[in-house]
Amino acid sequence: MEQLSTRPACAVQPISRLELSRLAVCDPRNSIPPEVETGLGALHDRIDTIIHLAGRAHILKDRGNDSEQEYFRANRDLAAGLCRFGVAAGARRFVLVSTIGVHGESPGRDRAITEESPCKPASTYAQSKLAGEQAVLEVAKDSPMEVTIIRPPLVYGPNAPGNFGRLVRLVHSGVPLPLQAINNSRSMIAVSNLTDFIQRCISHPAAANQTFLVSDGEDLSTPALIREIAAGLGSNHRIFPFPTAVLKHCLAVAGRRRMFSQLCESLRIDSSKARTLLDWDPPFSARDALRHAARETNL
Ligand SMILES: NC(=O)c1ccc[n+]([C@@H]2O[C@H](COP(=O)([O-])OP(=O)(O)OC[C@H]3O[C@@H](n4cnc5c(N)ncnc54)[C@H](OP(=O)(O)O)[C@@H]3O)[C@@H](O)[C@H]2O)c1
Repeated sequence: MEQLSTRPACAVQPISRLELSRLAVCDPRNSIPPEVETGLGALHDRIDTIIHLAGRAHILKDRGNDSEQEYFRANRDLAAGLCRFGVAAGARRFVLVSTIGVHGESPGRDRAITEESPCKPASTYAQSKLAGEQAVLEVAKDSPMEVTIIRPPLVYGPNAPGNFGRLVRLVHSGVPLPLQAINNSRSMIAVSNLTDFIQRCISHPAAANQTFLVSDGEDLSTPALIREIAAGLGSNHRIFPFPTAVLKHCLAVAGRRRMFSQLCESLRIDSSKARTLLDWDPPFSARDALRHAARETNL
């Protein structure tokens, strides 16, 4: 939001959790409920683009039986409700930030995922994000509102939530990490590159009704990632070789199978569609962005 607000032609209006929740529960057959009108009504006919980022993510431990419902409520129903609002308010474009997870977790080192790759979400989170994409497309399909879907891989930056922030803190702690033997390749995107891409999706005519995979364009192994984080922190990295199969077994026993996948397996994105169709190049190199993210994280 900060980045968008600095552009002269952009007036950015954030929408709160409360207003979003009301949008999600409103009956799709009716118009926007009055309590939502009160908060958002002033924006009617003045909205150019809605950028939908809110969502349920980074949950390490689910709280119980209703966890699946919570994912779908947050990632599907909120998206659909906001999209209905966009149609009713006459917005030109709806940009939905989804996730690369809709394509599965680790298709292998040799195959880069493209927009044409099959969708096979492996977690409830990814299933709910895919359901959100489908719900938005369904809501917008008979309207003039254009939809652009972005499926990023891991997003990092200063004080990033989720795995990146955890890794920065681990490297900073100096705990030796058994990750030197990992020979993987993973795509990521700096938050500064993602926001630049979102800006391109707001304005570029060719982004209408398209889905894009985006990354920094430089895939890194986990040991290389740790080296860059350590360089940003100005500390020595402490990683040592450890048999990958044993590590996999240990994490599986600890109920952390997904952590193994995210740390040790490969996930490569082919973002050539974004680069050619939208003439986009990430403005920041992965090396600079990673070091900056680590350096600026509050530890
Ligand atoms: N970070 C990544 O690596 C990554 C990768 C791919 C895609 N994405 C997607 O990018 C988006 C932003 O992710 P993030 O990493 O910035 O996540 P985040 O830091 O957890 O932020 C999520 C935001 O969504 C809001 N939110 C969560 N549950 C909600 C609910 N039930 N109703 C309304 N608002 C709710 C949160 O509001 P509060 O501040 O009030 O809690 C917060 O502002 C998400 O859609 C995520 O799926 C992230």
